[in-house]
This record gives sequence, C-alpha cells and structure tokens, in this order.
Amino acid sequence: MALALTWRPAIAPIQPPPANSFSPTIVARGAALAQIADCMVCHTAPNGRPFAGGRPLKTPFGTLYSTNITPDPATGIGHWSFAAFERAMRQGVSRTGAHLYPALPYEHFTHVSDQDLGALYAFLMSRRPVAAIAPANRLIFPLGFRPMLAGWNLLFLHQGPLTIDPSESAEWNRGAYLAEGLGHCAACHSPRNLLGGEERSHLYAGGVAEGWRAPALDQSNPAKQRWTPEALYTFLRTGISPDHSAAAGPMGPVVESLSHAPDADVRAIATYIASKMAERASSSPSVPPTNKPYGARQAYPIGATLFAGACAGCHDTGAPMAGQGRPLLSLASDLSDTDPTSAIQAVLRGIEPPVADRGPNMPPFSDNLTDEQVAATLAYARARFTNQPPWPHLDRMVAKARKESQP
Ligand code: HEC
Ligand code: HEC
Ligand code: HEC
Repeated sequence: MALALTWRPAIAPIQPPPANSFSPTIVARGAALAQIADCMVCHTAPNGRPFAGGRPLKTPFGTLYSTNITPDPATGIGHWSFAAFERAMRQGVSRTGAHLYPALPYEHFTHVSDQDLGALYAFLMSRRPVAAIAPANRLIFPLGFRPMLAGWNLLFLHQGPLTIDPSESAEWNRGAYLAEGLGHCAACHSPRNLLGGEERSHLYAGGVAEGWRAPALDQSNPAKQRWTPEALYTFLRTGISPDHSAAAGPMGPVVESLSHAPDADVRAIATYIASKMAERASSSPSVPPTNKPYGARQAYPIGATLFAGACAGCHDTGAPMAGQGRPLLSLASDLSDTDPTSAIQAVLRGIEPPVADRGPNMPPFSDNLTDEQVAATLAYARARFTNQPPWPHLDRMVAKARKESQP
C-alpha cells in the first residue's frame, strides 16, 4: 500500500528539442513568467551561471540545493519532455520518478495554467545548456529519504486551477492567479506547521524566510499606514515605498524580479494583495509619525546612546536621508511587528538596494555591535518610533537571528 502510494514511474527521456523549435513569442512570455516566479533567483548559485542550480536553501529541516534547470542533457533537464516538466511543477515529482522537496514551491506552481507551463518550458529549453551538478543535500534524518514526501503531498498538496471569483474584477483575479501560483507569495508570508506545510487556515498571517520574518499580508499586517494598491505597486516595482520602508533580505530578490515583470501583472498582484489587507483597522495618513525621543531615552539610556552614534546619521528626523523623502522609522513594519526578527536582521545584515543599485543602502552592523548592543538599540528604537509594547526576550532573539545569518 505504502509503496503503491509513493511509487511514480520514470518518464521516458527525449532528445533535447532544438532551441529554435520554440516560437519566440512564447519564449518571451515564458521569460516574463519566470521573473514572477523567481525561477532564476532560486536556481542560480552565488556568482553562478543563470539556472544552473547549486544555490543553498536553508530550511528548518536542513540545507537543500537547487538543481540545474538548463537544457543540459547530462546534468540539467535536457532529457525532460513537457509531460515530465509539468509533473514536476504540479506534483513535485522528478522525471526519474523521485519525489522533490517542496522547497520547489510546487504547492503553488500546481495552480499554473497549461499554457503558462508550456511557455515556461519553452523558455527554459531554449536557454544555453550549462553542465553543472548541485552539491548533495544535507537534511536531518530521515528526511533524506525522498519517498516520505509522498505523505507530505497527501497532506499539503492541493492540485488544480484556482477558482475565479466572479464578484471581483478581472485585474483582481489575474492578481490572485499570479500571487497564489507563480508568485508563491504565501510560501514565505504564511506560518508553517511542524511538517513544513503552509497553515491553510492562516494563509498570509506572516511567516519565516531564510532567517527573516515575512510580515503578515492580511488584516494583521503591522504597517502603520495602510498599504494601498498604489503603494504596493511602487514597493514591488522599485523596492521601496515612501509611506512604508524598503524591501530587505529575501524580499529583495523578489522585487528585483518583479522590476522586470510586465507592468500590468505587477499592478494585478498589488490589487490582489491590497484586498487581503483591506479590512485592517489602520491609522489615517494624517496622523503625525510616532517619535518619542525623551521617553525612550529614559527607558533605554544605553540604546539611546548607541542609536545616536550608529543610526541617527541616517534615521533621525534631521538626517539627510529624511530630507530625501525616505520613510521615517516609525513607518517601518519591522519595528511595529510582533516579531522582531526582521528588524534584527536588517541591523545585522544591512539592506542592499534591491533594484539595480538604485535606492537605499544600510550597512551591516553584525561585526560592530554585540548581541546586547543590537538588542538595546532596537529596544530604544521600538520605544521611540512605535506605540507597541517592548519585545520580550530580545537578547535571545538577536542571538538566534545571528546564528541563522551565518552561512
Ligand atoms: C524557492 C526556491 C525555488 C523556486 C522559486 C523555484 N525552484 Fe525549482 N527547485 C528548487 C529546489 C530546491 C529544487 C530541488 C528539489 C529537490 O532536490 O528535491 C528544485 C527543483 C526543480 C526542478 C526539478 C529538477 C530535477 O532535476 O529534478 C525543476 C524542473 C524546477 N525546479 C523548475 C523550476 C521552475 C521552472 C521555476 C520557476 C517557475 C522554479 N523551479 C522555481 C527551488 C526553487
Ligand atoms: C522568499 C520569501 C518571500 C517571498 C517569495 C515573498 N516575500 Fe514578501 N517579504 C519577505 C520578507 C522576509 C519580508 C520582510 C523584509 C523586510 O524586513 O523588510 C517581505 C516583505 C514584504 C512586504 C512588506 C510588508 C510590510 O508591511 O512591510 C510586502 C508588501 C511583500 N513582502 C509582498 C510580497 C508579495 C506580493 C509577494 C509575491 C509576489 C512576496 N512578498 C513574496 C519574503 C518573501
Ligand atoms: C547609512 C545609513 C543608515 C544607517 C547608518 C542605518 N540605517 Fe537603518 N536603514 C537605512 C535605509 C536606507 C533603510 C531602508 C529604508 C529607507 O530607505 O528609509 C533602513 C531601514 C531600517 C529599518 C527598517 C528595515 C526595513 O525592512 O525596511 C530598520 C529597523 C533600521 N533601518 C534600523 C537601523 C538601526 C537600528 C541602525 C543603527 C544600528 C540603522 N538602521 C543604521 C539606512 C541606514
């Protein structure tokens, strides 16, 4: 019985189709879809060749390496027919019949239309083949045993197209299709259960990604000012919203990809995600920014001194950055969030301009500040720039985040 459930046949190898056997229009569509899905982000090693795999992905269960998805016959997917590709994307089963780890977000890709999968296939199969073998995965026992994943699929894989909501606009439905499918936004922005499955009753309630906190994108979103479709569009397109903050950590590559995606598609995603947050009770834009330097200094004198030395040059009200229309820290979701992880990571690892070297830059402080100093600075910043209660166990959270930021 167990064997019958887990066993999947191999799909016969094909001769790699010549790159020019695909229509250029379809290849171009596939390229745009691959941007929305971040295929290249995950399937390219640091300084590696595009799509040749080998990028390490840290999960609570160990480290996985993405594979080579160039059409190289020996080390990539050159021998894969469309049927094999479709099965991998929809069911998480490799051409050989082996189960794939859900680090490839097939629980989302399963919703992608045949037509769009065909375009993605055409795009990948017309890339230049690269010979490259990914390092072996390092997973905690017994998860290295792939047939176990069949059980995971029974529990968490919900195949089939998404239902259209006729009460919503065509743009909203397009956004739902892209965000839930290729965009796999919920893969990072949802809590996961102990087995690593997304909690379907709490989709978008906030999750964890590569040691960062991906804030809630539902009514519990922590942003001080409500995310409108326009603000979301600007953020997803450029990596920064003047009424919020910048895309940091794992959100950086997402907006980098979206900066190349078709404009109408990014607008559709923004419309859909804004509707998820819509019922949120939020302050109106006219409320003055929270800024209580005196009270915060009294409560956290050491943090105040550290902030003055390390942060104020960019983050105080009179700083040049504020003059350039950059958001004040009181608008950053990271400081208002119930979970301090992303604020800590921003300080430890810094923020790189996500889109083409334009835009904001914050230096990493991991070498210059101790865990206690990071905690003291952030306790002060939270007290000064938000009306939220102090974060509990901040010291411990900093130590944990620092451990997770090490390679
Ligand atoms: C979040 C990271 C991530 C994203 C995004 C992602 N992949 Fe992957 N993909 C992986 C990992 C990790 C594996 C290897 C899984 C395993 O070893 O079980 C993989 C495996 C695959 C495989 C199976 C290859 C083989 O040799 O078995 C294919 C095909 C694939 N991905 C295609 C894609 C395409 C196409 C996209 C974009 C539409 C994409 N992936 C996006 C992480 C990702
Ligand atoms: C690889 C994981 C990952 C994926 C995929 C991802 N996000 Fe994020 N996202 C994050 C993280 C982490 C943050 C917090 C970054 C920070 O601290 O600034 C974030 C932040 C955001 C924010 C800012 C929220 C706020 O209140 O500050 C928005 C909006 C957002 N993401 C939307 C999206 C959308 C839309 C998608 C799908 C197209 C998406 N994300 C896909 C990880 C991800
Ligand atoms: C060289 C300038 C610079 C310095 C110094 C600096 N930051 Fe930043 N910080 C930035 C920029 C740029 C952003 C991105 C948002 C923006 O553009 O306003 C940012 C964003 C943040 C955020 C929001 C994170 C997010 O996801 O958007 C926090 C929290 C933060 N900084 C805390 C600090 C703290 C604490 C210090 C001192 C230890 C510090 N920063 C020092 C430039 C700086």
